[in-house]
Amino acid sequence: MKIEWYPGHMAKAKRQIAEVLPKIDVVIEVLDARLPLSSANPMLEKLRGGKPCIKVLNKSDLADTGITSSWVAYFNQLQGVRAIPVDARNRSAVSKIPALCRRLVPRRGVPGKTLRAMVVGIPNVGKSTLINTLAGKKIARVGDKPAITTCHQQIDLRNGIILSDTPGLLWPHLEDQNAAQRLAVSGAIGENAYDQVEAALSALGWLKEDYPELLGKRYKLPEISGEPLTLLEEIGRRRGCMVSGGEVDHRRAAEILLNELRGGKIGRISLEHPPGKP
Ligand code: G4P
Repeated sequence: MKIEWYPGHMAKAKRQIAEVLPKIDVVIEVLDARLPLSSANPMLEKLRGGKPCIKVLNKSDLADTGITSSWVAYFNQLQGVRAIPVDARNRSAVSKIPALCRRLVPRRGVPGKTLRAMVVGIPNVGKSTLINTLAGKKIARVGDKPAITTCHQQIDLRNGIILSDTPGLLWPHLEDQNAAQRLAVSGAIGENAYDQVEAALSALGWLKEDYPELLGKRYKLPEISGEPLTLLEEIGRRRGCMVSGGEVDHRRAAEILLNELRGGKIGRISLEHPPGKP
């Protein structure tokens, strides 16, 4: 099943970002640390021009620590870009972002010279959570489903930095269907837009290659050598996902696998390496 999902009006979002950007000193782009490329929309790079950018690698609590470090090094070598891994729910990591903004734009963020930043990212990547943590109070809506932030807000962080939280909604870039599968596996895409069994089979293909020990341990699998479908059926049997006639309920098994992967229960897992890395 081809994954197609458009959470908002693309032309409108693009126009709004283009309108606000000239007034912005720093773009805070929220990415998913488990898939920093697939969770980015390449259009932002074009719109941003040379404007300084902080790549916030969010949900780093769920990602493989070593691979996240490689991503930080990869982004830090880009002109005008600084990367930081965070768990947006956690103040201690997030509190380093204002200093990073000031370092990127030293003439701003000092008394009398407000630094203006804009938070952008695809739905469900953690923009609202990050804004709430930066502001120290609940400002933006934090939801359980990918959603669209609609109203324009400016948030004074009272440290010389003003955040514009909208228009910051980007849509995921789904032309590359491998990237789309990674987004589906991570939980970034509306659940009616993809086939859960297909997503689980993709996940098992990657886990089998990159994290066989974690997979084996979580589901007590004696062998990880089988095809993804065989593994899914084994997981289904172990978790009692059966239908009458002794067949495995693929859909229920897929749901279990995807929920546990997204919740970090299998372990810290990254779905993407920086370019040039094996
Ligand atoms: P958005 O504004 O970009 O659409 O994303 P939002 O902040 O609403 O976050 C989407 C989901 O991701 C929320 O979970 C949020 O708690 C979770 N989340 C955000 N940042 C992190 C992080 O760094 N690590 C982890 N593990 N989760 C994070 P939810 O279950 O949809 O909502 P809730 O029940 O937690 O409120």
